[in-house]
Amino acid sequence: MDSPLLQTYISQLQGQLLDDLCTSVPALTELYQYYVRLQSKRLRPRLILLMAQATNGLGSAWSKKQCLPGPLQVEENDCSLNQSGLANVILPEQLRLAEVIEMIHVATLMHDDVIDESPLRRGAPSAPAQFGNKQSILGGDALLARALMLSASLGVPEVVTNVASVLSTLVEGELLQAQDTMTPVKQTSDDESRKPGSSDWDSYLKKTYMKTASLFSRALSCTVILGGATESDPLRDIASEFGSQLGMAFQIVDDILDFEGGEAMGKPVTADLHLGLATAPVLFALEENDEMQQLVDRRFQEPGDVQRATMIVKSTNALPRAGAVARAYAQKAHDALAPLPASPAKVALQCLAMGVIARDH
Ligand code: FPP
Ligand code: MG
Ligand code: MG
Repeated sequence: MDSPLLQTYISQLQGQLLDDLCTSVPALTELYQYYVRLQSKRLRPRLILLMAQATNGLGSAWSKKQCLPGPLQVEENDCSLNQSGLANVILPEQLRLAEVIEMIHVATLMHDDVIDESPLRRGAPSAPAQFGNKQSILGGDALLARALMLSASLGVPEVVTNVASVLSTLVEGELLQAQDTMTPVKQTSDDESRKPGSSDWDSYLKKTYMKTASLFSRALSCTVILGGATESDPLRDIASEFGSQLGMAFQIVDDILDFEGGEAMGKPVTADLHLGLATAPVLFALEENDEMQQLVDRRFQEPGDVQRATMIVKSTNALPRAGAVARAYAQKAHDALAPLPASPAKVALQCLAMGVIARDH
């Protein structure tokens, strides 16, 4: 449950996003704002705003920060103050960063739904289903351009560098994933069958970090940079580690929900198998069921393969084991915040981390 202050910021963020995605051409505005208008938990902005609340005032350069008066600066009586007495301060630049990161996230979804040929997103027709592939790709490009302009307007070159760098990582994560589905289908004979090696896991975890966790990690580093954490400040590692571990947990849960999710997901089930992807549940199922290897090797392409693989995943311990991995990442995210002083924002961040593994959509 959000504090009233956080709710206010999230509403303000929604307004800013809609304003900044408004153009003089109604059809473009409709395209740019499409995913922003759909129901969303706004997880990334929430994390950024809470990290700002949990860390502002602690960074080495905080005393040099200009805290202008105004509704975005200091709110009283929302939660008890941390040691610095500035627990509730969120800088306008940090709210802007939350907007930049959400815009990037939405842009990636506009591209992702083309790549994944997904007809649904958040319970509604996906952007490509609604507007076509070309519009979805170009719309995503426009959002990225706007996000970069906004990030430059923060006037902190290091943040722009971080944003550009994470865009490159996101794209490379998707490229690696796409390459996995493009290499020739393997012909496996019985005597050739193999167990999932550490390289399967390494590659899965690497892609998971790159396509998802990297954005959480960099977004939260940028939050503390804007809050005055200089290069050697341990706050940077704390924020980035928290984001990275939480992001891993989030994507592994997404991969589990690809099997378990029903209507609540608002997107198709077993989409990953249809794309030929072997995610954590499949990697665990491979260890328990010999038949799975041939399905993986032909990337679930033959008639009935997706159904058979789903059945195997559900009849083994694959889903609980994948859940345990996600839980371990969430716990590491929780623990990464241990050095921060006690504050309601810190508790809220830790609850969000553990909540990621309980989500059902
Ligand atoms: C969702 O994964 C997709 C991502 C987390 C990243 C998508 C990134 C790109 C498409 C690269 C393009 C990048 C930019 C910067 C525009 P998923 O398909 O597993 O999740 P889903 O179930 O929500 O579709
Ligand atoms: Mg997808
Ligand atoms: Mg995808």
